Amino acid sequence: MEYHTPVMLKQTMDVLKPKSGGIYLDATLGGGGHSLEILKNSSPDGRVIGLDLDREALKHSGEKLSRFGNRVLTVHENFKNARKVLDSLGIQYLDGAIMDLGISSHQIDEACRGFSYTKDAKLDMRMDQTQSLTAYEVVNAYSQKKLEEILYLYGEESYAKKIVANIIKARAVAPIVTTFELADIISKSVPLKHYKHGHPAKKTFQAIRIEVNQELKGLEQAVKDIIDRLKKGGTIAVITFHSLEDRIIKRLFKIESTDCICDKSLPICSCYHSATIKLLTKKPILPTEEEIKQNPRAASAKLRAAYKL
Ligand SMILES: C[S@@+](CC[C@H](N)C(=O)[O-])C[C@H]1O[C@@H](n2cnc3c(N)ncnc32)[C@H](O)[C@@H]1O
Repeated sequence: MEYHTPVMLKQTMDVLKPKSGGIYLDATLGGGGHSLEILKNSSPDGRVIGLDLDREALKHSGEKLSRFGNRVLTVHENFKNARKVLDSLGIQYLDGAIMDLGISSHQIDEACRGFSYTKDAKLDMRMDQTQSLTAYEVVNAYSQKKLEEILYLYGEESYAKKIVANIIKARAVAPIVTTFELADIISKSVPLKHYKHGHPAKKTFQAIRIEVNQELKGLEQAVKDIIDRLKKGGTIAVITFHSLEDRIIKRLFKIESTDCICDKSLPICSCYHSATIKLLTKKPILPTEEEIKQNPRAASAKLRAAYKL
């Protein structure tokens, strides 16, 4: 099975336009699919700095991209620290950056990572296996109120109260240890008619995963930092997979591409804000029907891109 099939590869290269001599940041290296294409398209000397939280992904991509020698550097780091990584490498400006958010197919498919409600495993869901917080702690140690908040905010789950009440009841008897135990509790909390919207555990698992990996906190600042390090004309491409991520990127791109962000009712500008980027995608680019047929996981993907002014 392929480690991960890169999503909207051609569309991403069309906006990034890698060129020889360029320096690119792949903030979410994963299986290295986007990086491979950047390296090929920026021959003979374009470079990629690839970040990932997941050491397994870094090992896989490091091997896959090894033929490019010192044109590629893989770093175990959160993209929230991209600025620090670039500083340590003495890289002031980037020609382009890609962020392909969320988790890889490999992380979902490897049962032992505990991300999937369709595979029985210990509740884990850590992208970074060196961090201490796991899904087990979130499910078994968080307060009822905190769990409800997480399910509402990160899962947009309308049955949050019922699901959490049943989690609290179950864990009072014995800790909830596995993905199947949790999926079973959720399935029993959601009315049957709701099942037509997909697996009843989908939203709760998404919410817990976002909490474990703190996926949304700091995302906006990370994108700002990366934009800040782009050269004039350098491009940032961001692929999101759910509305929570996409809303953050859409809003930030709108602000960053606007000169004055004062309240429209004010007669004169008092913010003195200047646009830092120009949008390349007024509306997000979506995968083609053909791509979705070949890779159903691409279905919810949205690509937004902009270049530095
Ligand atoms: C959708 S996959 C990327 C796939 C990659 N573009 C490819 O073509 O194979 C997302 C990857 O980003 C990593 N990731 C998610 N959030 C991260 C963060 N804040 N910092 C660094 N890596 C992160 C995940 O561990 C995962 O390997």
